[in-house]
Amino acid sequence: MATNITWHASLSRRERNANRKQRGLTIWFTGLSASGKSTIATALEQHLLHLGLAAYRLDGDNVRFGLNKDLGFSESDRTENIRRIAEVAKLFADSSTIAITSFISPYRRDRAVARELHAAPVAGSESGSQGDNPPLPFVEVWVDVPLEVAEQRDPKELYKKARKGEIREFTGVSAPYEEPEDPEIRIKSAETSVEEAVVLIVGYLQERGLLS
Ligand code: PPS
Repeated sequence: MATNITWHASLSRRERNANRKQRGLTIWFTGLSASGKSTIATALEQHLLHLGLAAYRLDGDNVRFGLNKDLGFSESDRTENIRRIAEVAKLFADSSTIAITSFISPYRRDRAVARELHAAPVAGSESGSQGDNPPLPFVEVWVDVPLEVAEQRDPKELYKKARKGEIREFTGVSAPYEEPEDPEIRIKSAETSVEEAVVLIVGYLQERGLLS
């Protein structure tokens, strides 16, 4: 971390939420390639936008064309990928937007770091003002699919290439996927339609007052 830097305080989260008439949060999708996480995340984003809420989706493939184009798929690059995304999602959530992230995020500790980042107190704020800067809600959604089903779907033919050894360190084949132990929401995508998944997630958010 650089030295000689100073945190500049800005509007509180409560003030921003009041101005924008919505609460910022992060919905963190995790799951194997071809699990359906991007499809569900896109449908969720559209649904929230139709409700008049500001939502923005950050997607694995897309972010790797820009912000994270210097990163590959080694364990350390994936960790850095997720660290950066967690920071970006947090900025969106801090701006009272619903950040929707759709990354394999295969390592438990990286997902835990993302969660902790959202729970961390706002830098530089006095302990007395934490009430104005409540932690940012973090909702982990595991899009759970058996590897065989993901492999049968194989829309980008990546599993096929991975099995032939043409892609190294491919999640589920030659790199690990650590299943979430306690996600807020688990969607079994082989048994659940995209519409049903969106209803489940929106229901969860509404029950907890996160969409008002
Ligand atoms: S990670 O593990 O969270 O850093 O991965 P992510 O940023 O989500 O990128 C996953 C997409 O990259 C493509 N791809 C690979 N995935 C897994 N392993 C390897 N080796 C790999 N190489 C390329 C693939 O299209 C993933 O997209 P999804 O949408 O998950 O299928």
